[in-house]
Amino acid sequence: MTDVTPLISMTDIGKVYHADEVETHALSGVHFALERGEYVSITGPSGCGKSTLLSILGLLDVPSSGNYVLNGVAVGDIGVSERARIRNKEIGFIFQSFNLIGDLTVFENVELPLTYREDFRKAERREKVLEALEQVGMAHRLTHYPAQLSGGQQQRVAVARALVGSPSILLADEPTGNLDSRNGEAVMALLIELNNAGSTICMVTHDPRYADFAHRKVFMFDGRVVDEETLYRLRREEDSRLDAQIARVRDSMNR
Ligand SMILES: Nc1ncnc2c1ncn2[C@@H]1O[C@H](COP(=O)(O)OP(=O)(O)O)[C@@H](O)[C@H]1O
Ligand SMILES: [Mg+2]
Repeated sequence: MTDVTPLISMTDIGKVYHADEVETHALSGVHFALERGEYVSITGPSGCGKSTLLSILGLLDVPSSGNYVLNGVAVGDIGVSERARIRNKEIGFIFQSFNLIGDLTVFENVELPLTYREDFRKAERREKVLEALEQVGMAHRLTHYPAQLSGGQQQRVAVARALVGSPSILLADEPTGNLDSRNGEAVMALLIELNNAGSTICMVTHDPRYADFAHRKVFMFDGRVVDEETLYRLRREEDSRLDAQIARVRDSMNR
């Protein structure tokens, strides 16, 4: 049976930060929905609220107002430990600065999220870790430490760590921000591959070139979602143009 509820549904999300008697409205009236299997990019100028939105999506932060339903569960007012449990199971994070732990090996870094889960035994953990590292092309570096890897390799390991627990969604915040363009493009290609293999991805970037890799682009400005360009629609139009062309060729052959 296919599940028809959206994976993510956010309505009227607001986020206000209070610091030194200054109120910052980081998000206002944000509506955001995401279907399973989608690859969405969120773009906008620095400070427009992209990371704030991603942190709330990933249950690292809580909204000040609005509703958030993840996988059919209203996660707005759940307790801290339940939040952590759901985050660990459902969310895979990829950060700009990789955030690998320096004194753990590649294998141990990727294994780490699984050690917090009761549903994986040691042998099964090993299998999952190897599988994830193979997916990102890093299975030949199991015993290396992060400092012994290039930035691009570190980010691939971080991607393996994000996907090892088979989360419902991968969230990436400026995943190419610390990489040169060659390594940046390699990470982008990897995300596309993972999406083709079924992963749902939401990526934040201020770089329009990288935003174009997603199926759907969401634009933010000043804490709001301001515009959305749907490549799905363009693709459907392209498909129907192609269909029309094929029909014309068939037609001419039959004459
Ligand atoms: N912990 C915080 N405390 C106070 N203000 C914050 C905090 N985090 C973010 N902000 C503010 O919220 C706004 C949105 O920030 P952010 O989501 O990081 O933007 P982006 O990722 O698009 O650059 C900015 O004005 C930022 O200064
Ligand atoms: Mg940011």
